[in-house]
Formats: sequence, structure tokens, C-alpha cells
Amino acid sequence: MTDRVYIFDTTLRDGEQSPGFSMTVQEKLEMAHALARLGVDVIEAGFPVASPGDLEAVKRIAREVRGPVICGLARAQRQDIEVCWEGVREAERPRIHTFIATSPIHMERKLRMTPEEVLEAARQAVRLARFLCPEVEFSCEDATRSDVDFLCRVVEAAIREGAAVINLPDTVGYAVPHEYANLIRTVRERVPDSDKVTWSVHCHDDLGMAVANSLAGVQAGARQVEGTINGIGERAGNAALEEVIMALVTRRDVFGLRVGVDTTRIYPTSRLLSALTGVEVQPNKAIVGANAFAHEAGIHQHGVLSDPRTYEIMTPASVGVPTNRLVLGKHSGRHGLVHALREMGFQLTEEEVERVYTRFKALCDRKKRVEVGDLVALVQEGFAAAPETYRLVSFRVTTASDEPPHAAVRLERSGRLHVAESTGDGPVDALFAAINAATGRQVRLLDYSLRSATGGSDALGEAVCRLQEGDRVATGRGSSTDVLEASALAYVAALNKLVEAQPVQTVRTGS
Ligand code: KIV
Ligand code: ZN
Repeated sequence: MTDRVYIFDTTLRDGEQSPGFSMTVQEKLEMAHALARLGVDVIEAGFPVASPGDLEAVKRIAREVRGPVICGLARAQRQDIEVCWEGVREAERPRIHTFIATSPIHMERKLRMTPEEVLEAARQAVRLARFLCPEVEFSCEDATRSDVDFLCRVVEAAIREGAAVINLPDTVGYAVPHEYANLIRTVRERVPDSDKVTWSVHCHDDLGMAVANSLAGVQAGARQVEGTINGIGERAGNAALEEVIMALVTRRDVFGLRVGVDTTRIYPTSRLLSALTGVEVQPNKAIVGANAFAHEAGIHQHGVLSDPRTYEIMTPASVGVPTNRLVLGKHSGRHGLVHALREMGFQLTEEEVERVYTRFKALCDRKKRVEVGDLVALVQEGFAAAPETYRLVSFRVTTASDEPPHAAVRLERSGRLHVAESTGDGPVDALFAAINAATGRQVRLLDYSLRSATGGSDALGEAVCRLQEGDRVATGRGSSTDVLEASALAYVAALNKLVEAQPVQTVRTGS
């Protein structure tokens, strides 16, 4: 058996289908490129039959992203499989991932099918997928609550029809590690030709054991691990790939296995996902949280200064966490900026560097020392940014303890000024209402957050707005030492995406 574990990323499918994480086609494409740079083996780019936007995203990723296998999800139904093939067919290495539930509760209450009908549907699905596509993965949804004899019959049929990868998901995060390992081992032992396929694990985190279960599955012979960046996904999320990868790398003495990813790309990829979705990871999140490498207690600081290995089992640099604190100031040139950005793992186009440089110079006029956090905020502001259809020209907000806040804004669109004023419940509310009045658009604020990119009262404020217009949702970011300006920039950035963006999410899978 190979000692290589294949990393299957489903951030753009299982991750994206959970509430609050939907992305536009452009955002998905940017994320897929980042995943390819990280070096994952498979990208599950979406669920093509779910919506025209999902199909479009899968097609673009298949056409434009090189390196990993590009995979699409399909229920065990003819239309799903045909649309899925349409999505992935232009990929360098396409894969159709088809699935059907095998647990009694899912078969009886959701599918309303008998076990024999499910078995036949699985057989037909793999046969059709294999007819269309050279590589097929088959999953038994809710495998961990399925009857093991029946599971073996379904898996045997899928292998006979030509599936190359068999996935046994813990769909509802119900398993515990030794039990999940037993399941993988038992099915592998009992099913004929099990050595001809790759066994895959796909675990959800409902009991907080997704990563532990995935690793137990690997020890039982699975060689593909499915998960998401930052562990996003249905309900409590999927197995966090950064944790699985670093466990395999850091404890190679235990697992004796290899992965093909560039671990120094982990942190930039995690940051990109947060920037695109507007959802931050918790500070104490393993590997990528803000505190993952912070040492607060004096005794720990003393130890780390004497020898980092006293309290660090892996280095920040090994996962791409920038460590230099003070970076640049107003005398730094373009070269210094490009060097710093590269050190932080950002590979920007000339156009992007130019935009960051202009914003950096403006920031230097307001702030003496520009730190790593400031630079990250400036770069993130531009991730998957839409063209500046509306541009914030100026704004004024007045607020006092004895009168309602009042805002006036001036926006520019194609050389025309759009001017409006409004009051609101607070200064930010007044500002957003004035922008709505100036643009005349019917947008709804779903989520708004403001945080400080670094410490100190001159810190850059980073605002994130999530807006909805009709069935479209978009996230925008803005940063400034003035938090009201940061908020207005974020709102306008999201608005510009709504003007540009296409809808991506309408139908949802099981999990
Ligand atoms: O959790 C699950 O069972 C899934 C399948 C569709 C693979 O996401
Ligand atoms: Zn899942």
C-alpha cells in the first residue's frame, strides 16, 4: 500500500454549501487557484446540478485550474451525473463523485427507497459516471449508521462498475475514532478487489472528532482524506484539512505517511478563505488561529526565547505564518513592499501590487509603522474584488449624544455623481442608509464586522460587510485608520460585487 495520503478539498462544495459561506464564481475561482498552489490532490469544485451559478463555477475551475484533479458532486441520478460531467469535462483530470445514502433512516425517511432500489441506483450511477468520465468516486452517505453487510454489498457493486475511489463518510459526525477505523478496516477486508481502489474518509465535526476520526481512518488503510480549509462545512463543519495535514507531517513518526502539499501555503490559503467569506476563524483554532503560535504566559515566553521547541511542536514558518512584526514605513519603496508581500506568501500580479502600493502609501501618511497585520488587510481588501462600478468619493457623518446620527455620501459611477443623505440608528447605519439612497439599490445588510488589523489606537480598522440583493449575496472588505471610512469602503465593495456577481447557490445536498 502506498505511503502517500491524498488530500481532497471540499471547501468549495461541502464548505460553501453551509450558511454564511457562499461565494461568487470569481471568488470560487480565486480560492481554487489558491488550493492548487497549496498542492491539494483533488478539488471538489461544486455540485453542478444545484444551480446555474454552481455549474458555471465548476466549469471555470475545470477550464482554468491546473494541477489537482477537478471533481464535481452528483446524486445517484442521471441528470445530476450528466450535468456534473458537463461541469468537469474540460479539466486536465476530471472526476465525477456520485453518492447515495445507505443508512436505514436515510433510505426510509429521506429517499423512500428499499435497500434493493438503493443498491441498483448506486450500480446504475457508477456505470453511467464511468461511461462519461475516466475517474469516478462513489460515496455511501451516512455510512457510519449503515448496516455493514449492506454497505459491503453496495461498495462491491460500485467497485465492479468501475469506481476508483470509495468513500465512507461519517455524514452526521456520529462515529468515534476506534469505531470508524473498524468500519474502514472491515469493509476493506470483506469487499473483493478492495486493493484496487483508493479508500477515502469524509468526517463531520458534530462531536468534535472529525480530524481524529479521519486520522483513525487513515491508520485503518484510507489513503484519501476529505475536508475543508478552516474546517468550514455543514453544521459543525468538516475535518479541518490544515489540522489533518499538520498532524500527518508533525507526527510522521506515528503515521509513517507523506502528503504532497506545500505546508507553507496553509496560512495564506486560510486567510484568503476568511477574506472571501468574511468569516474569521476563532483565535484558538489549531494551526491557523491568531493565537496558534502566541505565547502569553511569562514562563512560556521564557522557554520559547531560549528554544522555540520547548512550547512549539511546529514552527510558524512551516505553515506560512508571518513572524516579522515591524515591516515597512513611509520610506519603503515598491521593492521593499513586494519583498515583504512575497515573504508573507502573497503572489500578486503587477496590477494588484500597484493597487496595494497606492493604498500602502496613503496608509503611511496616517500611520508611522506599517505592520504585517496592516499589509494583510490591504491585500485582502482586493481579493476577488469586483470592478469599481461605484466609487466612494467622500462622506460626512455627524453624531452626538442628543440627536440622531446623520450621514451624507458622494459616490461616483461612470463619471456621474450620486449624492444622498440619511439618518440612522447609529453612525454606521446612517452611512449605509445614505449609500443605499445614493445608489437606489434594494440591498439588505446580512452581516457586518469591524476589527483591528493590529494593536494601537492608530491601527487599521478592517470592516467586512455581507449584503443581499434578491437571491444574490456578496461580501466586501474595506480598511482604513478611520473605521467609518473602512465600513463605507466595505459596503461599496460588496455592492460592486452584487452589481457584477452571478448567483451561485440555490439547491443544497444532504451534507
Ligand atoms: O457528508 C457526506 O456524506 C457528504 C457526501 C455527499 C459525500 O458530503
Ligand atoms: Zn459531507
